[in-house]
Amino acid sequence: MGTRPVFMPSQSAILDISLAPEGERKIEWVSLHAHTLNSLRRSHLEDGSLRGRRVAMAIHLEAKTAYLAWLLHEAGAEVAVAGSNALSTQDDVAAALARRGLRVYASHGADPAELDRQLLQTLDLEPDLVIDDGCELVSRLHQRRPQLLPKVRGASEETTSGILRLRAMQAEGVLKLPVIAANQALCKHLFDNRYGTGQSTLTALMSATNLLIAGKSIVVVGYGWCGRGLALYARGLGARVTVVEVDPIKALEALTDGYTVASLSEAASIGDIFITATGSVHVIRREHLELMKNGAILVNAGNFANEIDVPALTQLAAEQREARRHITEYVLRDGRRLYLLVQGALANIAASDGHPIEIMDMSFSVQALAVHFLANHARELTPGLHPLPEEIDREIASTRLRLLGVQLEEMTGEQKAYLQSWRSND
Ligand code: NAI
Repeated sequence: MGTRPVFMPSQSAILDISLAPEGERKIEWVSLHAHTLNSLRRSHLEDGSLRGRRVAMAIHLEAKTAYLAWLLHEAGAEVAVAGSNALSTQDDVAAALARRGLRVYASHGADPAELDRQLLQTLDLEPDLVIDDGCELVSRLHQRRPQLLPKVRGASEETTSGILRLRAMQAEGVLKLPVIAANQALCKHLFDNRYGTGQSTLTALMSATNLLIAGKSIVVVGYGWCGRGLALYARGLGARVTVVEVDPIKALEALTDGYTVASLSEAASIGDIFITATGSVHVIRREHLELMKNGAILVNAGNFANEIDVPALTQLAAEQREARRHITEYVLRDGRRLYLLVQGALANIAASDGHPIEIMDMSFSVQALAVHFLANHARELTPGLHPLPEEIDREIASTRLRLLGVQLEEMTGEQKAYLQSWRSND
């Protein structure tokens, strides 16, 4: 790697480089537990495909994402990183990455204009590869830096909300890049969206409130991959769970999984805690806030901070104050108090450390191999959304199982022939 330019922290825009030692410890801890990524690093990332590539990343900037950025840098890429959400950025981790020589444009609590500037700064790298979260960079490339599009080989998208935006771009015929839908890889959403969001959101809720979950009525809005995990972990902790859905199949699935299913108007008055995970906008609105019990707690796990209508909550309130770290108390004009976690941002990342390391080990194995695949094959792909090739998904699962010491059963020749035959006597 001796020929790679070393970028000094002065090329970064971060809060405070002196925070780097704590960020270093966090990244080091991740490196000790990211076994799948470490294995794939040796077998794939360092084969030279990424050497000299320029990678722009929009990510929830904490230690696990920082470790992914670091591995790409170690594989020879120039990497520029921005936080995808100012509330999830950890300044110590940003400082550590900048000190390690990556370009970092991120600060916790940046206002929307600053966040926008930071995201655009990563594009100043003139990337040929993009790792995106919520379509933040791909949408800016198309709307604000279209002259850079011909240089971009492709992008990889991390989350459901980003996929929704990309599908909208594709439907309008404006998506000019091949984009790997990393979120749709099985090694991503089956584990990250479900178990990761389930465990980490409940962890964030419990540590922010210091309240008991057992016996509480928890309303989970959205029974997709995240909602399934949220409901599972809430029930496991002893909560009575009600699911709210707009999709009849998902609603029936939730009912069959043993949950109460109701409309939000019905559930609004019974919930102690509401958790949204829909990827949509204003799912909890004024009409629901007006029905809620005194003391109800509002939590969002969806990607964007607009699932709970916070402006409506503000309008209903006579006053608001910080009740505890990460919790805002709204005293409504009728005297009820409602509590909102981290201003409606995704609580597991904004109020805690996000998903467990082993979960992100898999999600970022998907991202790392998606970028590796793009580096080698993007020219063969047409503009639009593409799945991660199935063999890569299976390789990540096999690698993780091998590292866990889990043996797979192998099919016999007779079984293979049987499964490929349609004749009843074969
Ligand atoms: P999904 O598409 O699997 O599920 C969303 C569900 O919400 C669907 O079943 C849909 O029918 C339902 N829904 C939509 N509008 C609704 C409404 N008004 N009321 C009730 N239900 C409604 O999506 P997934 O993967 O569960 O992701 C949900 C959100 O969580 C997205 O914004 C995604 O980006 C985000 N996410 C957050 C993570 C975190 O760490 N907090 C991790 C992964 C995803």
